[in-house]
Amino acid sequence: MNQVKTVGVVGAGQMGAGIAQVLATAGLSTLLFDAAPAALDKGLAGIHTRLGQAVEKGKLDAATSERAKQQLVKASSLKDFAKCDMVIEAIIEQFEPKAALFKELDSIVGPNAILASNTSSISITRMAAATSRPEKFMGVHFMNPVPVMQLVELIRGLQTSDETYAVVQSLCTSIKKTTVLAIDGPGFIVNRILCPMINEAIFLAQEGVAPIDIDNAMKLGTNHPMGPLTLADFVGLDTLLYILQLLHRELGEDKYRPCPLLVKYVEAGWFGKKSGRGFYRY
Ligand code: 3HC
Repeated sequence: MNQVKTVGVVGAGQMGAGIAQVLATAGLSTLLFDAAPAALDKGLAGIHTRLGQAVEKGKLDAATSERAKQQLVKASSLKDFAKCDMVIEAIIEQFEPKAALFKELDSIVGPNAILASNTSSISITRMAAATSRPEKFMGVHFMNPVPVMQLVELIRGLQTSDETYAVVQSLCTSIKKTTVLAIDGPGFIVNRILCPMINEAIFLAQEGVAPIDIDNAMKLGTNHPMGPLTLADFVGLDTLLYILQLLHRELGEDKYRPCPLLVKYVEAGWFGKKSGRGFYRY
């Protein structure tokens, strides 16, 4: 079985930077690229800050933090990914840009390299079909915040080989994540369950229950670390709406209908924490 030693990450946003951080911390040679140079610099700076904080808190020893910083390299173009054993994509959640990226990567990386997507909702089978290596293509869905969350959902496309699955699973274990195998269907496992739950909380808010009461009920009554509306703001209301619309469209059941209040908030530009306003103000 091939072992992954060098990994490329495309997209230096919250998810991509988090993924690059855990890979480099685990000692893997990691290349990070973003088409926007400012986003790449911001992503790298964030990783350095978080590594420093982890050392200050005594969660990470200084030597491991230093090694992680050395293992993490800024890629100046996708061509730098030629030496990668695996590339993980974490760019905008739209099929066309992802498919175009994978097509390009397919022509750059070596014949044995694995291509993977951190998509939260797009069909792995469909993205794999945009490449010449659908058997070496997989979904690896990390949770936000990546350095903290234990889980990675693994998604096999129709043609993903047993070997690819085994290599990616072994990589996830080596970076201290726990994997589950999801189906290649809308929302995989986590978002299929989580998004309707949050949607229901938004219906309650629309019916007049105070957001703080909804959140406290779920925090104190079911031991969730964050209430559903705080979590919605954290994930991003635009992202949440996008996933709910996908579940609704693809599964065709009314139970996935996005709450009108969520639609209204997104129309108003209230995307949650990242825009300064959602169910709460930031
Ligand atoms: N990056 C790195 N570390 C972070 C972080 C971030 N963005 N945010 C928080 N942390 C770390 C903190 O530094 C702290 O570390 P420490 O224990 O070493 O001091 C630890 O997480 C706890 O943070 P806080 O004390 O500040 O706050 P909380 O105790 O409330 O924890 C939380 C924050 C870990 C985010 C917790 O509230 C939580 O688990 N929330 C639920 C998150 C969740 O459900 N994520 C999944 C979302 S769904 C998803 O990602 C799928 C996607 O497709 C939509």
